[in-house]
Amino acid sequence: ILQNVSTKKGQAFHFGSTYDTYDADQAWFTTTFQTFYKHVVSENGCKWDATEPTQGVSDLTECLATQSFATSNGNTFRGHNTFWHEQTPTWLPGSFTASQLTGTIIPQHVQQEIQGLGSSVTSWDVVNEVVGDGVSNGMTPLQCVQNKGDWPTVTADGSGQPLVTDLSFIYAAFNTAFTYAGASTRLAVNDYNTGGQDAKTACVISLIQNIQENTNIPYDRLAIGFQSHLMASAGNFYTKQELATTFSTLAALGVNAMITEMDIEINSDNNANLRYQAAIWGDYIDACLYASNCNEFINWDPRDDLSWRGTAAAATLFDSNGNPKPAAYEVAARLQNY
Ligand code: G3I
Repeated sequence: ILQNVSTKKGQAFHFGSTYDTYDADQAWFTTTFQTFYKHVVSENGCKWDATEPTQGVSDLTECLATQSFATSNGNTFRGHNTFWHEQTPTWLPGSFTASQLTGTIIPQHVQQEIQGLGSSVTSWDVVNEVVGDGVSNGMTPLQCVQNKGDWPTVTADGSGQPLVTDLSFIYAAFNTAFTYAGASTRLAVNDYNTGGQDAKTACVISLIQNIQENTNIPYDRLAIGFQSHLMASAGNFYTKQELATTFSTLAALGVNAMITEMDIEINSDNNANLRYQAAIWGDYIDACLYASNCNEFINWDPRDDLSWRGTAAAATLFDSNGNPKPAAYEVAARLQNY
């Protein structure tokens, strides 16, 4: 029943979820990633703490194992992520100057990961969650990024200078990624609470333009990942129209859009909530299907009991017994009807 499409008007359409080698119930993963999900991203195995636990020493074991899980099931694979202020290796928050970070540490890490995973990776989240949550309309890309309160200060010269005095650390990540990625691998800025006509979405759009202007990476190799971690109670989701407007703004630039981490916390899986969850998921999958520049759709955690939000959030497409929920049937129907 839950067969999904893997093409969209002649282009590949990558619909999938997360996997880690230590996830429970591997047999369920194999079955479900052969029938419903067809695209894989490592939930944790490709992050900096897992892939470079010792400075300069590459350890891609977990990340490659996730890629192998994908290929063994005939699935495609995307990379998450080569730069994030969270889940960094223990050696990182050391006393580095900004120029060491930009000149050596980031390029070395990005190269080892992207080169190691090879050219078949559909896309990489090159930088993850670099835009602040307190941004306002009209901010420059630098102001958007400086607004992020999580940047470590750089203590090398004892002055505690903030890391972000310019965006060269982001250009370094993207330039390195572009050098080593496959010719059709898309390079993304990935963030949450984005997708509509709001200040944070405006920031990620102006940031991707700024990256293009400062790296000359062709626009069609660039992407914005809209994580889409939603909470029914908070109503932090967008309408199909709002998403379509944002996606078409990016299409006009030649930039790709992708839904990268969708889940919807409903907090109790009664029928009304499950139908509500299904309706929102249907809007999001349609917004992506019917946009010319949206060809990847990742659901974060494939099953309620495996969700980072906890089982009670009932936030995913399959219940804790591994059975499809109304949202899974809704999405399958939209995929099949497309
Ligand atoms: O690997 C250790 C293990 O050795 C240890 O025994 C265990 C208990 O302490 O912790 C394990 O690490 C955990 C890791 O997941 C792997 O399971 C960390 O504590 C835990 O914090 C980490 O959570 C992940 C979280 O990112 C980290 O911020 C979630 O699984 C993951 O779903 C979540 O994913 C993020 C995306 O990468 C970016 N967007 C937001 C999204 C949700 O936070």
